[in-house]
Amino acid sequence: MRIAVITGGATAERAVAFAGAAQIVEALRSRGHTVRVVDTVTGLLSPTDEPRLLTTAVGREPPTVAELDERERAMLSNGLARLTEVTGADVLFLCLHAGRGEGGILQAVLDVIAVPYTGSGALASALAMDKDLAKRLFRAAGVPVPGWFMAPVAPEDVTTALGWPVIVKPSKMGSSVGMTLVRNAEGLDAAVEVARAYDAEVMAEQFIPGRELTVGVLGDVPLPVGEIIPKHELFDYECKYTPGMSDEIFPAKLDTTLARQLQELALTAHRALKLGGYSRVDFRLSPEGDIFCLEANTLPGMTRTSLLPQAARAAGIEFPELCERICRLAGNSGSARGG
Ligand SMILES: Nc1ncnc2c1ncn2[C@@H]1O[C@H](COP(=O)(O)OP(=O)(O)O)[C@@H](O)[C@H]1O
Ligand SMILES: [Mg+2]
Repeated sequence: MRIAVITGGATAERAVAFAGAAQIVEALRSRGHTVRVVDTVTGLLSPTDEPRLLTTAVGREPPTVAELDERERAMLSNGLARLTEVTGADVLFLCLHAGRGEGGILQAVLDVIAVPYTGSGALASALAMDKDLAKRLFRAAGVPVPGWFMAPVAPEDVTTALGWPVIVKPSKMGSSVGMTLVRNAEGLDAAVEVARAYDAEVMAEQFIPGRELTVGVLGDVPLPVGEIIPKHELFDYECKYTPGMSDEIFPAKLDTTLARQLQELALTAHRALKLGGYSRVDFRLSPEGDIFCLEANTLPGMTRTSLLPQAARAAGIEFPELCERICRLAGNSGSARGG
C-alpha cells in the first residue's frame, strides 16, 4: 500500500504524535509498504527531516503551541490537497492527538480530499473530543459515567449533587493537561481558570477513587482489558509519557464477568459515538465495584508501548500487524465509511 502518515499537529501533544508516528512508519515499512510522512504544520517531511523530527523525545511537560496554529490552518486549507503524497495515497494513517487532528476538522478536510483515512470520521471524532457531549451519549446508551457540571459551577451544587473531591478539566483536551483534583470549595475557581487556559469549556466531574482500566476496540472487537497503576494519584502527563511512571497490566487481573462487562461497555461506548476503525475507552472502577466510563479516545497513543498496542499484543496482535489492520479498516465518508 502507499501510505501517508499524517502527524504533528498544532497542539501540546505534538511530540507525543511524532513519537507514535516514528514507530508506525517503521512498522509499516517493515511490512513492505511505501510510507511518507506529512506534518500538518510543516508539510511533507524529506528523508533528512524524518529522523530529526520523528525522534524528538517527549518531555516531562507539554510544549507551548501558539505559533504552530496559523501554519496548520494554512496547511489544512491550502496545503494537504496539493500534495500528491496525500492525494495519491491508498490510506492516510492519522497519528495526531487533540486539536484539529483528533477533533474532526482534519477528518472533514480529508472527506473533501476523498482519500481513505484511519480511525473515526469527522462527526464521531468531534463528539469524542467533547467530553460533555460524549458523556451525554454514553449515558443515553446505558454506559455509566461520573456526574458532572459545566463551568461556571456553584460550590453548593458540587456539595449537594456530586460531593467532593471533583476533577476540574478542559472539556476538549487530552493527555491530562489542565486538570486539577479539587478537594473543597476554596480550590474551585482557581482550578477552573487553569483548565480555561486550554479550552473555554470546562467541567467539574465527580472524582472516582479506585482502579483505572482501559479497553481497546479494534474493528468490532474489544481487546483484553488493561489496568493502569500510575505512580501519581492521577494518570497525569508525566505518568503517561515517562517510562516507569506507571505500571500497565495486560490483561488486567479481574474476574471474567467484570472483564466481559467492561468489554461490552467499551463496545457500547464506541458505537454510541459512532466511532470507526479503532478506539480506546477508559474507565474507573470504584472500591464498591461500580464501573464509570471517563472517555473514548479516537486516536489513542500509538507507540509500541502505548496502551492500545499493549492490549493488541495481549490478544496476539503484534504492533506491525496492528498498524496494518488499522489501515485496512480505513474509510472515507465520501466513499465506504459507514455509521
Ligand atoms: N472523574 C475522575 N475520577 C478519577 N480520576 C479521573 C477522573 N477524571 C480523570 N481522572 C484521571 O485523569 C486521567 C485523565 O483524564 P481524562 O478524562 O481521561 O482526560 P484526558 O483526555 O486528558 O486523558 C484519567 O486517566 C484518570 O486517571
Ligand atoms: Mg484519558
